[in-house]
Amino acid sequence: SLEEVEPNFFTLSPDSPLRETIQRAYRWYSPRFSPCDVPRFADVGSITEEWSVMRGIRDFLVARYRNLPEPPTHIMGFDARGFLLGPMISVELGVPFVLMRKAGKNPGILIESEPYEKEYKEKKAEAMTIRCGSIGKGSRVVLVDDVLATGGTALSGLQLVEASGATTIEFVAILGIKSLKGAQLSHSYGNGRFSKIPFFALVDESVLTEANCGDTAGYNGPRIIGYREALSRI
Ligand code: ADE
Ligand code: MG
Repeated sequence: SLEEVEPNFFTLSPDSPLRETIQRAYRWYSPRFSPCDVPRFADVGSITEEWSVMRGIRDFLVARYRNLPEPPTHIMGFDARGFLLGPMISVELGVPFVLMRKAGKNPGILIESEPYEKEYKEKKAEAMTIRCGSIGKGSRVVLVDDVLATGGTALSGLQLVEASGATTIEFVAILGIKSLKGAQLSHSYGNGRFSKIPFFALVDESVLTEANCGDTAGYNGPRIIGYREALSRI
């Protein structure tokens, strides 16, 4: 039920029941109603608010990784939305969940990736870290996030696993925005040192149709309603 979109970049085939389940739940917002200036901001909350969709994603990924000849020894999630998906998989597999975060958020002695840029630009390029010792030599790691966009964080994850003396089994996301070439960034990086690592987006941006738009039609009010104002409207 998997399709290879480009070399080592996979997605669920169009007739996959999980793909349909995700498409039914997924909502996107235009810049008017989202925190970022991207055309379609994919809302991970629309997935988490549907517990049966979360369960479908969990069961699919747990079965996928449990059945490998050499199953993962660690799941590593990307701050912050990867933290919603990774732990439910790691507890079922009985392996640690590792938090990849910016240096200002992680305690201990850290390994830091090279800086990367995002689909929505923050003031400067950012780098990611994990704690030294979180992942040991010879470990086999699955990387997880909600969205694969330009792929800067994914590349950071690959660097941090490599620099831990470990290998990445796969990078997995719910949504892959193909046009932003996130898999290509990692696959072409550093003379192809990561070219063999599979990227797996459960669905691609074609699931985010007009019918999936979460914008409130005809709404002219403020996007953010303060506490006191909200109280007064109850
Ligand atoms: N991260 C980068 N691009 C995104 C998008 N379009 N929606 C949600 N998260 C993103
Ligand atoms: Mg993210």
